[in-house]
Amino acid sequence: MDSGFITFEGIDGCGKSTVASTIAQRLKEQGKNVELTLEPTHTWLGEAVRRSYTEEIHPYTEAFLFLADRATHTDWIKEKMSQGNIVISDRYSDSTVAYQAALFHQKLGGPMPEYVKWLQEVSQPVIITPNLTLLLDIDPEVSLARLNDRAKMEKFETLENLKLVRENYLAIAKDSFHFRIIDSSKTLEEVIEEAWSIIQGL
Ligand code: TYD
Repeated sequence: MDSGFITFEGIDGCGKSTVASTIAQRLKEQGKNVELTLEPTHTWLGEAVRRSYTEEIHPYTEAFLFLADRATHTDWIKEKMSQGNIVISDRYSDSTVAYQAALFHQKLGGPMPEYVKWLQEVSQPVIITPNLTLLLDIDPEVSLARLNDRAKMEKFETLENLKLVRENYLAIAKDSFHFRIIDSSKTLEEVIEEAWSIIQGL
């Protein structure tokens, strides 16, 4: 694969940022052109998204902020791919589907699968389908224990919320051909090797 789009997904503390950057580095060492990116982005749109973490805002406002950031990010991703890059994104559209559906369900009530469906539909015009999405799956009790070392606990990082987010991720993965699930309770080295062998097989 010389150009393409790979996304990493998973709940907070699953290790995806470390795995994504290690994979990007290895691909570069193979001589590939690689762009490692993330969401929320480091643009002013991404900054607006980050600001919402610390504010009490309407869940739909928050969801649309993530989508606003993504629409522009998607254009950037397409451009980089057309220039012959492999783009690796630490979080993308499935984060919004998994996280915002959980938040909608908790704050507004109503069945989570309906929110998942709606978020997938509303996302369609502003996304492209990745060639591969690696879901780093882990029990939230384990991932939260890793995160407790971190100074800042974010809005989304509660056990109750992350259990719902994980449920959504697993449901989405079941219905999508481009998803591969990796057991992220294994050691970081094992997770990296599994991710690497999946990518080499592309
Ligand atoms: P994260 O990747 O964990 O960034 P950091 O390492 O800087 O904390 O993402 C931040 C949080 O934002 C995380 O809890 C997941 C949440 N999030 C959503 O709720 N929806 C989205 O669409 C995205 C991209 C992130």
